[in-house]
Amino acid sequence: MKKVKIALLGLGNVGRGVWNILQMNGEEIMKRSGCQVEVAKILVRDPSKARAVKVPEELITTNFDEILNDDSIKIIVEVMGGIEPAREYILKSLNKKKHIVTANKMLLATYGDELFKKADEEEVMLNYEASVAGGIPIIQAINESLTANKIEKLYGIINGTTNFILSKMELEGSDFENVLKEAQEKGYAEADPTSDIEGFDAQYKLAILSSLAFGTKVKIDDVYREGITKITSKDIRYAKDFGLVIKLLAIAKETDGKLQLRVHPTMIPATHPLANVHDSFNAVFIKGNAVDDLMFYGRGAGDLPTGSAVVADIVSILRSDVDTENRLPVEKNNLWHKEIGEINDITSRYYIRTTVTDRPGVLGEITAIFGRHGVSLRSVIQRGRIKNEEEVGLVLVTHYTEEKQLQGAINEVKDIDAVKEINNMIRIEDFN
Ligand code: NAP
Ligand code: HSE
Repeated sequence: MKKVKIALLGLGNVGRGVWNILQMNGEEIMKRSGCQVEVAKILVRDPSKARAVKVPEELITTNFDEILNDDSIKIIVEVMGGIEPAREYILKSLNKKKHIVTANKMLLATYGDELFKKADEEEVMLNYEASVAGGIPIIQAINESLTANKIEKLYGIINGTTNFILSKMELEGSDFENVLKEAQEKGYAEADPTSDIEGFDAQYKLAILSSLAFGTKVKIDDVYREGITKITSKDIRYAKDFGLVIKLLAIAKETDGKLQLRVHPTMIPATHPLANVHDSFNAVFIKGNAVDDLMFYGRGAGDLPTGSAVVADIVSILRSDVDTENRLPVEKNNLWHKEIGEINDITSRYYIRTTVTDRPGVLGEITAIFGRHGVSLRSVIQRGRIKNEEEVGLVLVTHYTEEKQLQGAINEVKDIDAVKEINNMIRIEDFN
């Protein structure tokens, strides 16, 4: 049987998962790919680091050139993360006609064009299933299984860390900081967890997914982004009162000839299937014009689930022919030009939580401003005073309205003396 040598760049959470799967399922992988996979080298930053996985010492290196200059290594598995030196190592490897498997969404969303072009020129494969939604085979599904469809809408919970945090806050009343620490310990979070909690990670992933789903080049900045750091247990409780649940939702839909692309905390009906996606699970909900509604669900982060997607990408290269004959073409995701809509142009329902001085007439002043801006209110909740404090929480939920009208109203409401703070504004998605 043909033996194929591969190298891992990185032996952290994902690298460990890849190694363990190759040990655990070596025979299945060999039968399915027709090749025996041998890990020939593993690049790390610090060889003396204590690791949760045991690998033969002689495989570990800190010198990338040892891997690059070994012509017997045919596949490079980049699971180190970050932009540099990952980009440089991938470009150099492609130059040497080595196939690439990567889990690096930040790199692909930023330099995907350059890397895919280079892979095409060198006639090698660049696979990236693990870059979006961990173990869920969503890239393969969009690229292969859904090609008969025009995709109309895509909604995703595509960051495991934030979903883990929001689920624990909602179901167990846990504290944000403690749950984030737990997500880091479990290997869900990025090296810099700001990327998760401020929504950057989901923004990169939505740029990749929407490029594929809508056949157009989507840049990172085309995707509007907000993170979850302003969400408090109060917002979660109010959402519950309204029959809603808060998720960091990635939304891509084509309306009036424009693509709407956004990642932000979103209140969704507690009865929607996405509301029941908890823990580090991810889900991608797609509406195609032929297939109708589809939902993909699975672990969005963690060593083995992500490793599962990485190893499948390795197998797909082995099956395609590692020696480059019969190579499957690298995806072209720039079939059409699509205009990208502005966040101000969206129409949504909104939840607004404020803190106001409890005096006669305040509610009237606020609702009058909303009325003048054409924003119709659906519900208002005022929570009674706590002890003798004068300030109370006032929550407003609107009917469908344009974001620019809502923002105009909020800006004016802020200036009322009795309005102490606009604590939060969260969009509500009905999936209509
Ligand atoms: P990680 O735990 O931080 O591991 C990174 C590994 O890369 C470490 O082994 C590190 O070496 C090595 N490394 C980093 N910079 C290096 C450098 N300059 N030279 C040599 N080695 C270097 O990261 P991870 O969680 O496995 O994530 C890896 C990639 O997969 C990222 O792109 C991430 O976005 C993506 N991803 C992660 C998950 C997940 O669940 N964690 C899921 C999907 C995709 P040392 O061990 O010596 O420090
Ligand atoms: N940090 C990422 C997450 C890893 O939490 O979803 C998976 O891409």
